[in-house]
Amino acid sequence: MASYRIAPSILSANFAKLGEEVVNVIAAGADIVHFDVMDNHYVPNLTIGPLVCEALRPLTKAPIDVHLMVKPVDRIVPDFAKAGANIISFHPEASEHIDRTIGLIKESGCKAGLVFNPGTPLHYLDHVLDKLDLVLIMSVNPGFGGQKFIPEALNKLRAVRKRIDDSGRDIWLEVDGGVKADNIAEVARAGADTFVAGSAVYGAGKDTDPHRYDSIIGALRAELSKV
Ligand code: DX5
Ligand code: ZN
Repeated sequence: MASYRIAPSILSANFAKLGEEVVNVIAAGADIVHFDVMDNHYVPNLTIGPLVCEALRPLTKAPIDVHLMVKPVDRIVPDFAKAGANIISFHPEASEHIDRTIGLIKESGCKAGLVFNPGTPLHYLDHVLDKLDLVLIMSVNPGFGGQKFIPEALNKLRAVRKRIDDSGRDIWLEVDGGVKADNIAEVARAGADTFVAGSAVYGAGKDTDPHRYDSIIGALRAELSKV
C-alpha cells in the first residue's frame, strides 16, 4: 500500500479550543495540520495568520501545512516561516512572480507548494515543477469548508500524478475540498497521496468526546487501505 497522509483542515475546528482540537486530531492518527489562511481579498473569507501558527507550533511535532489564500503572497511568507510552518503553498494567480515566490519559501526553510483552483490550468507547472515539494489540487473553489467535491479534480489529479512520476522527484500530491470517507479511495486511485479533510474530520458531529477523532480518522484510513 502506498503511504498516505491525512491533513485535517483546522478551518472546521472549534476555534474556541483550537490547540486542544489540533492535539486531539494528531493523537487520533492524523499526519499533518492543514492551516487555511484567507484574506477577504483573494478569497471572500477571513481566517487566521502567523500569530495563530506560532501559538500552535509548540503543541505538536506534526508538520504545519500553510495554505495561503492571500494576495499578495510574498510579504507574509517569512512571517509564517518564523511562526513554525513546514510547508507553504500559494495560488499562482496570487503571485506576480511565481518562481520568485517559490524561491522565497525555500530560502525561508520551508517546503514549497503550488495550488490549482478548479479553473486554473496546469501549465503553471511547466517551468517550476522541479522546484516544488508539493502540488495541491483544489476540488472546490477556495474560501469555505463544507463544499461539494468537484469530480473534474480527478482528471486533474491523474494528469499531475503522471507529471510527478515522469519527473522522478518526490513531490507530494495533495487534494483539498469535499474529501470524505465515501470518496477518499477514489481520490487516492486518481493519484493523490495527501488528503485535506476539514468538515469530514472536525465538522463530524460537533460533540465534545475527545476520542471521536479516532473513529473518523480510522474510517478514512480503512477506505485508503482498500486502494
Ligand atoms: C477551502 C480550504 C479547505 C477547506 C476544506 O478553501 O482550502 O482546506 O477547509 O474543507 P472541506 O474538507 O470541508 O471541504
Ligand atoms: Zn486548504
